[in-house]
Amino acid sequence: MELVGESTKLHDENRQGEALDFTLDASPNGKKFYVESYGCAMNFADSEVVASILHAEGFGSTKNFEEADLVLVNTCSIREKAELTIRKRLTEFRKVKRTKPGMLIGILGCMAERLKSTLLEQEKLVDLVIGPDAYRTLPNLIKEAEGGQKGVNVLLSRDETYGDIAPIRLNSNGITAFVSIMRGCNNMCSFCVVPFTRGRERSRDSNSIIEEVKTLINQGYKEITLLGQNVDSYYWNDEISGLNTTFAQLLEQVAQISNDLWVRFSTSHPKDITDEVLHVMAKYENICKCIHLPVQSGSTRLLQLMNRTYTREWYMAKIDRIRSIMPECSITSDLITGFCTETEEDHQDTLSLMRYSNYDMSYMYYYSERPGTLAAKRYTDDIPLEVKKRRLQEVIDQQGILSTRSNQNDIGKIFKVLIESSSRKNEKDWQGRNSQNKITVFPKIDGKHQLGSYVWVKITACTRATLLGEIIETRLK
Ligand code: SAM
Ligand code: SF4
Ligand code: F3S
Repeated sequence: MELVGESTKLHDENRQGEALDFTLDASPNGKKFYVESYGCAMNFADSEVVASILHAEGFGSTKNFEEADLVLVNTCSIREKAELTIRKRLTEFRKVKRTKPGMLIGILGCMAERLKSTLLEQEKLVDLVIGPDAYRTLPNLIKEAEGGQKGVNVLLSRDETYGDIAPIRLNSNGITAFVSIMRGCNNMCSFCVVPFTRGRERSRDSNSIIEEVKTLINQGYKEITLLGQNVDSYYWNDEISGLNTTFAQLLEQVAQISNDLWVRFSTSHPKDITDEVLHVMAKYENICKCIHLPVQSGSTRLLQLMNRTYTREWYMAKIDRIRSIMPECSITSDLITGFCTETEEDHQDTLSLMRYSNYDMSYMYYYSERPGTLAAKRYTDDIPLEVKKRRLQEVIDQQGILSTRSNQNDIGKIFKVLIESSSRKNEKDWQGRNSQNKITVFPKIDGKHQLGSYVWVKITACTRATLLGEIIETRLK
């Protein structure tokens, strides 16, 4: 197991092959597509843009790939394991194609960008290869592939944001939605493939973001998450008005649209999150008090090798700052064990920094060398797999202790919770999340509340990953 904590869909970079669970009934061109997505929330948001592009071309959709005319896999390259899983899946699709020759199989996303035409020309696993900035060309590429040509476009762009395309919400509960505010990443962390697969960082027009949020509210959505690899470096310069918008300003503008809308964001890079952002968070009740602030390692020496551009002490000061401005804010992290040259001492530094930061939850991985990254070029992947895994287990165990303690500290507290679904384990219970992004489960009261309601819940018990409680009917705000 590589991650601790419930799969909240918010920060889970480990999402594995989720098919859409929404059907576009109309199919004016008589064809249906099926899309399966892997990887981070940004990939899932992109699949919704792709669905919109295909819908405009007359495609309907299906949840069953065997009846699809077009099977798309939106892929992730972040770790080798992610790519291996996807390859296996492509082989399964290939088998079905043998019995259905008209079927087209396309690969989208980061693996398409990284491997370019290899999967099509050498391995003959797919008919279409489309990189993350080329989705507008999908309809033409489909036509080319139908005519027996190679449908490949992996050009990265300096300005594509798909800002004008209204995403079709897939796998949606109708209550929570992602809103992409930027694409790409300029950071060049040495272990990371994202700058190569997603290209240069670019921000989306703030007006189109605000419009999308308003549309979501009109459709009944109650929570949005502003998405980017590094949201704190969001910056929009409006050529018509001459006005500039920073992330803090965007966050404030979005929070002001409706008090009834919860606002989250992900991901923050520790070097970029500003006091201004923290103060805006503190000012608005509807901006959720949760910051995902990936540290990666607790050792300054390793952080330097990783090109993270902060030290252990600098990161600790950032944690102090968050806690002093918003004591109730939860803080979560990403951690990598066994990066090149990591010693036992470096590893102990990671464990102690976790304790210092008192993370409520973390996503934890062992280092997986990615071809073409700075680390792959400069350093030797010299930590044996069993050591990487043993250290990962120690990090997971440490997080288990911190998460359990954090949840136990919540017993007796009362939280506002947004109801998102019935509990998967028991239909008689609701499941939602509080502002701190903790999964909260509590019994339904006959006919009283519905999906999308905010309720006040008193916490009575917990597990490591979940708060358990009961609805408090009267709670003064
Ligand atoms: N942009 C975010 C940031 O800076 O933290 C997250 C980027 S990445 C999609 C999500 C996480 O995957 C990273 O924070 C890191 O912990 C992990 N990751 C990235 N490359 C990795 C690699 N080569 N091996 C193991 N984990 C990796
Ligand atoms: Fe990767 Fe670093 Fe960019 Fe995050 S900030 S996407 S870890 S290069
Ligand atoms: Fe994976 Fe690409 Fe996201 S590599 S984590 S899908 S940006």
